[in-house]
Formats: sequence, C-alpha cells, structure tokens
Amino acid sequence: MIVNDIPYVAELLRKGELVGIPTETVYGLAANALDDKAVVRIFEAKNRPFFDPLIVHIASVNQLDTYALDIPDKAWKLAHAYWPGPLTLVLQRQAVIPDLVTSGLDTVGLRVPNHPATLDLLSRLDFPLAAPSANPFGYISPTTAQHVADQLEQKIAAVLDGGPCTVGVESTIVHCAYDGTVTILRQGGLALEAIQDCVGEVNVRVHSESNPSAPGMLASHYAPRTPLVIGNIEQVLRENNTLKMGYISLQTMYSEFPGMQLSTHGDLAEAARHLFATMRTMDAEGYDCIVTELMPNQGIGRAINDRLNRAAAAPIL
Ligand code: TXA
Ligand code: MG
Repeated sequence: MIVNDIPYVAELLRKGELVGIPTETVYGLAANALDDKAVVRIFEAKNRPFFDPLIVHIASVNQLDTYALDIPDKAWKLAHAYWPGPLTLVLQRQAVIPDLVTSGLDTVGLRVPNHPATLDLLSRLDFPLAAPSANPFGYISPTTAQHVADQLEQKIAAVLDGGPCTVGVESTIVHCAYDGTVTILRQGGLALEAIQDCVGEVNVRVHSESNPSAPGMLASHYAPRTPLVIGNIEQVLRENNTLKMGYISLQTMYSEFPGMQLSTHGDLAEAARHLFATMRTMDAEGYDCIVTELMPNQGIGRAINDRLNRAAAAPIL
C-alpha cells in the first residue's frame, strides 16, 4: 500500500514492520536497524544472501558517533560536506549495531539520506533504519513508490511515497582508513571529483565476483531479465536484424528502431535519474535483447557505467 502518512509509517517501524522509504538515490526497504527480528525480514523479503551487509540510515551527522567508533578525520570531513546526501561511509561499528546488519563485519555503512519525508521520519524514531534498495536481490533498483509496490507489495506493510528519486543511482560508498587512505567501494550519486575536492587523493576499488569481502559488489547486479548488451548501438541493431531488439541511448535517437533516450540533452544527471525506470520499461517490452552504450566516464557518468556493466554481466537466460 502506497501512503503519505509519516506518523503512521513511524508506528509501523516501531512495531518491527518493513516499509519502503524514499531517498534521493533509490527507494529503500527499511526496518529498525537495532532489532534483529525486523532486520531478518529484510533479507527474507529481498531474497538477499546474509553475507551482503545493509546500509544504516541516520537522521543527522550528530548521530555518527552513536553508531561508529574511532572515526577518521577525513570521514568527518566528508560527512560534514556531503550529508544529507548520496554518500555512505564505512566505519568501525559501535556494539549496538547487530551482526546481522553488517554480515558479521566489524564495520558498518552509515548515511544520512537527503529526502525531506525520510529525514522527517528518521527524526521521529529513536532508532536508525537499515535499508537496502527495495528490489528483489539482483534486480534493478526502484526509483518510484510504484516500482517498490510492483515487486514487494505482498511482503511489506507500506511504501512511503516521496515521488521519483532525484539522483536515481545508489549512494557512493567510501571507506576511510586510519592511515588516511580513502577508497571508493561503489561508485554512486556523489561523484569521485566531489570526494577528491574534499579529501584529496582517492582510490577506486574494482568489484570482483570472487571477493566476498567486497559484499554486494558482485559483477552481475542491477540487472533486467532481458539480456543487455553494451556496444555501438547502431551497428549492433543493424547486424542483428533477425532479433527483436530495443536500445537505450544517452541522447541519440535511431528512428527505425524501438528504444529510449536517457537524456535528450545528453545531461548525465538527468540520465542517472532516468536510468533504472528506463531499464524497467524496456525490460517489460519483451525484447530478445536490449543494446546500450557507455556514458562519458566523468562525474555521475562513472556510476551509470558501473550499473550498465554489471547489468550486462548478467547471465543470458
Ligand atoms: O543509495 C543507497 O545506498 C541505497 C539507499 C536505499 O540508501 N541503498 C543501497 O543499499 O544501495 P544496498 O543494500 O542495495 O547496497 C548496500 C551495499 C552492500 O551491498 C555493500 O556492498 C555495502 O553497501 N556495504 C554495506 N555495509 C558495508 C560494510 N560494512 N562494508 C563494506 N560494504 C558495505
Ligand atoms: Mg541494491
């Protein structure tokens, strides 16, 4: 059920229920992060493996040291600069965070989401919210309340409607080590350049299928059911004229073929905002294959390319 009533949603969460919540990045599937029983239900509803830890959403930077320990200076700097916003910081956890949330790691991912309804909700609660993206594990993340309802309605108490997400790709996940090293674990809504501006040199970790200590970084992820191919769109369309194919381009229109553009002006922020909804729409069309192209590798274009590469790595069914 899609609702607008924030006090009602707060009450559901106090009772240990699961609720879909809006954030600026994607919708989350939220539960009381300090309640094991509620958190277990997140994994069940998503069909998510227990080795993949959850992000904990807090109301403000003032709560950071309630849930994290020994916070490095650069992490404070990033939190002050970019919260509320699409940035998750991986930090040593306080004991109050259950093992289940962190998959047994001694670190926790924390963020203050930049959405007025969810900030209002968090301010009414005396616990933080564990919330992965509100999609079945491995599928495309939701960017509207309806996307959440379409896939998880039977399994959750409500979805709080906050309109379409304004960023459209998940948060950037950053680890700050005690030696001052800053590493991006997942590209996302906060650009690499913005992080460099704040803390200087930044490393980027490459995800790998064989490294479960980089959880949630599996190559195949964010995937539509229809096989997705990355390449020169026009060439792939012309060379495969026996297949029923559609395309997703940044801005070019190929009028002989069915497809969608992410941004008619080639604006990468707009492309990010439209990415997941476009993938869902195209996935529902019943094509044999969807062909797409990589974006310029700058700013939020890096996060779009990361999601496209992982969607394309999905096994062909
Ligand atoms: O924008 C977002 O981050 C959205 C919204 C709802 O906040 N959430 C999100 O959650 O994308 P999810 O579960 O789809 O991705 C969470 C990822 C995990 O897969 C894992 O890679 C990383 O966050 N993560 C969480 N805790 C971590 C930890 N302690 N160490 C390393 N990575 C962690
Ligand atoms: Mg996710």
